[in-house]
Amino acid sequence: MSPVIVRTIDELRLRVRELRAAGHTIGLVPTMGALHEGHLSLVQAAKDDGHKVIVSIFVNPTQFNDKKDLEKYPRNEAADVALLEPLDVAIVWAPHVEEMYADGFATTVSVSGITDGLCGATRPGHFDGVATVVSKLLLQALPDAAYFGQKDYQQLAVINRLVADLNIPAKIVGCPILREVDGLAMSSRNVRLSEKGRKTAALLFQTLSQAAEDIDSGKSVETVMSRSSEALLAAGFEAIDYLEMRSADDLSPMTEFDRPARLFVAAFLDGVRLIDNVVVKGR
Ligand code: PAJ
Repeated sequence: MSPVIVRTIDELRLRVRELRAAGHTIGLVPTMGALHEGHLSLVQAAKDDGHKVIVSIFVNPTQFNDKKDLEKYPRNEAADVALLEPLDVAIVWAPHVEEMYADGFATTVSVSGITDGLCGATRPGHFDGVATVVSKLLLQALPDAAYFGQKDYQQLAVINRLVADLNIPAKIVGCPILREVDGLAMSSRNVRLSEKGRKTAALLFQTLSQAAEDIDSGKSVETVMSRSSEALLAAGFEAIDYLEMRSADDLSPMTEFDRPARLFVAAFLDGVRLIDNVVVKGR
């Protein structure tokens, strides 16, 4: 069945009340649209947990530190809704900017510590925008659970922190990264890559995976990281925002592989900022 497209908070609340009155629980999947299989896997996870699913589609202006990135962000609501149809999504929550940020809007949710490095360092204001809009989405829909991808691992950590700190009664579920066959993490931004860039982009995951293996086999973290950076730049990436090993738990920086770790990368290709992360397995 086609999902109902809802544009106002009042109607969203009404429909959520109706679903609850009919005995359903609610799973929320926040997105910015331009949906791909990665997003759909979150919807499937929410369905598998037995929820009626709300997918929010809102290109959130406050989390874009770069105006051009916001302008270029792909938007196609009709195509998105068509992708959600076979998944029996109950509600597509697609408010206009004015509904989300009414006149006089003046509140920011800001999570400290975990936002210091990685994307927090290179995208000023980004996580404030994310934390604020996700807080709003959770309070608007009041879901039992909300689903997020590990593709944006730092974002997931920020959301876990804010939900705990603000006592928001929703369970946060982190879901695995869906990848193309060559390993490139699925992303709405991938469509902006040139044909050549799309081929080169696969090296991001391949380089990261090789680096994780090398660290696991005892090689120096510093050496592995600098060699991996050089390899990406030599392959055609224009710039690397960061390539770092961090604690999988609290995202603190690590120079030795002495606790559960992940490798994080953000790099530019064809002017597109791509991010990815992998686990360092350990023996
Ligand atoms: P967006 O980039 O549209 O992503 C929506 C959700 O899909 C996020 O939780 C993201 O981690 C997940 N996702 C994206 N690509 C994925 C992949 N390849 N595999 C698995 N999950 C994937 O992230 C945002 O939107 C926004 O910041 C948002 C949370 C909606 C707040 O505006």
